Amino acid sequence: MPVKSPTELIQLAAAVAQQAYAPYSKFHVGAALETEDGEVFTGCNVENASYGLTICGERNAIFNMIACGQRKIVQIAVVAAGDTPPYPCGACRQVINEFADPECPIYVAPTGRLDAYETMQLGELLPKSFKL
Ligand code: THU
Repeated sequence: MPVKSPTELIQLAAAVAQQAYAPYSKFHVGAALETEDGEVFTGCNVENASYGLTICGERNAIFNMIACGQRKIVQIAVVAAGDTPPYPCGACRQVINEFADPECPIYVAPTGRLDAYETMQLGELLPKSFKL
C-alpha cells in the first residue's frame, strides 16, 4: 500500500524538476515514485547537444530506483510546466510498465498548478501493453 499522499509525491516531483538540465527544450520535467517498500526515488530530464541522447525525468527516477535495488513502483508523479498536464511519453509508459501493475496511479500536474493534478492508471495510458 502506498505511504505517501499524491500531494507529497507531486511536491517532490516539482522540486526535482528544478534540477532539470533542459537548455534546448527549456521544458523542465520532474518525476517522483514510491516503491512497494515505501521508498521514494526522483529524477529529472537531462538533455544533450546530441538531442537523441536526452533522457526523460520518469526514466531517470526509475533507473535510480533500479540502481538502489528496488523493483516495484506503487505510484508515480510527474510535473512539468505547461497548460496541459505532462502525460508521460510512450517510451516512459513502457518503462513504467516494466515495474508497475496496470492499476498503478500516475499523477500529472502542471508546475504552476500542483493542486490541479490529474490521476490516471498505467493501464489507461498503456492498454494492451507489451510484456514478455
Ligand atoms: N520529457 C520528459 O522528461 N518526460 C516525458 O515523458 C516527455 C518528455 C522531456 C524530454 C526532453 O528533455 C523534454 O521533455 C522535451 O521533450
